[in-house]
Amino acid sequence: MPAPTQCGTSVSGEARPGLRTKRSMRIEGRNYRTIWLDDDGRSVRVIDQTKLPHRFETQILRSSDDAARAISDMVVRGAPLIGVAGAYGLALAMAEDSTDAGLDAAYDKLLETRPTASNLRWALDRLRDCLRATPRQRRRERAYAEAGAIAEEDTGFCEAIGRHGADIIKAAAERHPDRAVNILTHCNAGWLATVDWGTALAPIYKAAREGVALHVWVDETRPRNQGASLTAFELLGEGVAHTVIADNAGGHLMQHGLVDLCIVGADRVTRTGDVCNKIGTYLKALAARENGVPFYAAMPSSTIDWRMRDGVKEIPIEQRDAREVTHISGLTEDGSVATVQLAPAGSAARNYAFDVTPARFVTALITECGICPATEQGLRGQFPGRPADGR
Ligand code: MRU
Repeated sequence: MPAPTQCGTSVSGEARPGLRTKRSMRIEGRNYRTIWLDDDGRSVRVIDQTKLPHRFETQILRSSDDAARAISDMVVRGAPLIGVAGAYGLALAMAEDSTDAGLDAAYDKLLETRPTASNLRWALDRLRDCLRATPRQRRRERAYAEAGAIAEEDTGFCEAIGRHGADIIKAAAERHPDRAVNILTHCNAGWLATVDWGTALAPIYKAAREGVALHVWVDETRPRNQGASLTAFELLGEGVAHTVIADNAGGHLMQHGLVDLCIVGADRVTRTGDVCNKIGTYLKALAARENGVPFYAAMPSSTIDWRMRDGVKEIPIEQRDAREVTHISGLTEDGSVATVQLAPAGSAARNYAFDVTPARFVTALITECGICPATEQGLRGQFPGRPADGR
């Protein structure tokens, strides 16, 4: 697993040939990543997350349009994975039209697929900057190398998040040697949301592999149910004890001492430590504060938006199709997957996909560089090279 050369810095694909593609996470005993180059070395293969947990299927992305569609339809999702898929989308675009105009058009098309996660813009900016500095005839190769470098870097960062965060879980285990540590998580911030390992779930995987007794409360995470479908699927694959709960159950569990700590992922974190994550995260943080339960957010540095100060006012919140609220899909008794309607046809519905947890409710942030307070000072201590106003 490549370690970051220095916290918060990037290693470009050109500077690091021979990228490794070790796969760490398991489905039925086989190791996978979420995204990889197909046998032709050009097309991009992804796990189709809209089919999980009931069907394991992959999709092949052959064009930048395919990549854009896969991101907006949530075939691939999760902030770090969206960034990597966007980067490969630009690489596919360079095979279609490697002019500056082609680059800018593909950048715009990919950027508008999902507005909230920082990682998408971060990855697209990085690719565009590097391709603008590359002669046209070399852009295609360069784009694949850089997208591959981002994927490797994300893996290294998530693995490091896992190591740092596992220390928090091990400390909790020392306080409760007589029983398993109970951890609550929201949505899916596991390996399916990244290339490998995950963010919030990486510390859980690391601790579990070291033999720490733990149990995970999995918020179902309406409306798309990424907790019940994806997090539960991942934890099953890794053999980690877990229980799926209705989103509304967390407060009750915390009141009764059944949660030792919460760990969530993040889609965008401001430089002051405000955490934007899947809708419902904020309510969990409020309940955690009321009940004295530590609340951690885990993210790689590509999720930090150094330009933003006030998450509630500044972070764009994606609104998705209201049908995701009014309808639900699942496995029927005959083994087919069906979608059914929950709400009356005449009712209005709104689908806010994310919310912002102000930094004051976050016990600490876990990044590839370690654990820091959710403050500007805390983040700058981990990433000292960042200019005051942005990247
Ligand atoms: O809408 P999604 O499924 O892309 O949202 C995912 C989340 O909110 C995750 O918690 C987030 O991306 C954390 S990053 C691993």
